Amino acid sequence: MATEHSPYQGSPYVCTDKTLRTPAVPKNLGSQALAARSEILVSDSSNNIRDEDRSIHDWYRFVLSFPPHLVREYLARLGSGQDGLILDPFCGTGTTLVEAMKLRHSSVGFEASPMAHFASATKTDWSPEPQRLIKTAERIASIADAELQGAGISDIPDQSTPTSPLRTLVPDAAKLLIRDSISPLPLHKVLVLIDAIKSQYDADLHDHLMLAVARILPTMVGNLKFGPEVGLGKIKPDAAVISKWLDVVAMIAGDLPDLPRTPDSRVVLGDARDPAQYLEKRSIGAIFTSPPYPNEKDYTRTTRLESVLLGLYGDMAQLRGYKQNLLRSNTRNIYKGDNDSRAIAGFESVITLAQEIEQRRLDLGKTSGFEKNYHKVVLQYFGGMALHLEGLRPFLQKGATLSYVVGDQASFFRIMIRTGHLLAEIAERLGYNVESIDLFRTRLATATKAQLREEVLVLRWNH
Ligand SMILES: C[S@@+](CC[C@H](N)C(=O)[O-])C[C@H]1O[C@@H](n2cnc3c(N)ncnc32)[C@H](O)[C@@H]1O
Repeated sequence: MATEHSPYQGSPYVCTDKTLRTPAVPKNLGSQALAARSEILVSDSSNNIRDEDRSIHDWYRFVLSFPPHLVREYLARLGSGQDGLILDPFCGTGTTLVEAMKLRHSSVGFEASPMAHFASATKTDWSPEPQRLIKTAERIASIADAELQGAGISDIPDQSTPTSPLRTLVPDAAKLLIRDSISPLPLHKVLVLIDAIKSQYDADLHDHLMLAVARILPTMVGNLKFGPEVGLGKIKPDAAVISKWLDVVAMIAGDLPDLPRTPDSRVVLGDARDPAQYLEKRSIGAIFTSPPYPNEKDYTRTTRLESVLLGLYGDMAQLRGYKQNLLRSNTRNIYKGDNDSRAIAGFESVITLAQEIEQRRLDLGKTSGFEKNYHKVVLQYFGGMALHLEGLRPFLQKGATLSYVVGDQASFFRIMIRTGHLLAEIAERLGYNVESIDLFRTRLATATKAQLREEVLVLRWNH
């Protein structure tokens, strides 16, 4: 039977502090990196991450990632599965995987979005030699800077008089960007920098150098802000690119020397609804994860600017291909032929909830395509999560614990979706024991002004 307690009640998951972190640059690293170094914004919209936890996590993270200490506390409380792997099947930017590595525990992650996958894979690769990373970055910075200066462009904002046309994205790629998400001059600087990185290709360092580009893009260079949804902030006609990038590379290099290199972490660009493709039988000792919830969050939109500029996808068809691998958690990724709902056939709580939402739409006379999809999101979302929980079973060790951080939702005509409780019912039917549903934090719903619960659903597999 589920119990409720609230170890994290009141903890502000997202706050707006603008704490600055001075990157920890190893002594005797390149002079240019040190000279060019300025302070780095801790997190583009920082959340409740503790100062002592910033190492690695700060390289690139989602605004709404759960904080690293939550992973540690749960693994300490529930056990990290002794000889089993720690799995995060919706690993996002890798908070669980990085924490597992810091605890010297082997781990595996799945992630369906290419930008988050790239971030997780890079954040769990601690092999680069810091001095070499810095030296290479300095060489690249000089190449990029020379090209910019040759065209009348300074990396220092508002000091450029371009003497030739600025570089732009090809139209198919440009179309994918949120309008005005980056101004033309900073875009040009970023494209020059990326070309310089490619021209000095070094397989051991390339991903870290590119992740540093992704890190500076949304808010330091681009015009985006996160509140927590992505939107346009103040438009910056110009921005420093190369110096900011060097700052982030210095931060990455500064985090690397102290790290243990032993534990393995594997990150798969894959779909958590079909775990059988990627796992060995009885290999998983613990799961700590935060899947999407049935709301209107589109993870591909949040990371669109950096995904396109890093070349992870370049046109609408490729983007759609990735979206189809995502759990159906919002009305913009419902497709003809979706059939995850088959996994909850006969599951009354979810079906009744979906019917109630559709009936409310009819009663209110709402006819937009999005609104017509609300009830489908509910069916496909819980169906997808049922497929995931069902598919995992052969890969779990006896006694494995599974922790799912999920939120209630009321954005579909204000009808309450108790995500954690519905997932608990589904899990119980699939043979899991529901150990607890813990309150992690509450969040104010803008429409209803009600406090919505974010919970950690804890399951155990005893078979
Ligand atoms: C709430 S976020 C996870 C954040 C994560 N805890 C972190 O540290 O950044 C949910 C993630 O699940 C991913 N996702 C959605 N559907 C997926 C699927 N079917 N398989 C794997 N990952 C998926 C999304 O792209 C998103 O990155």
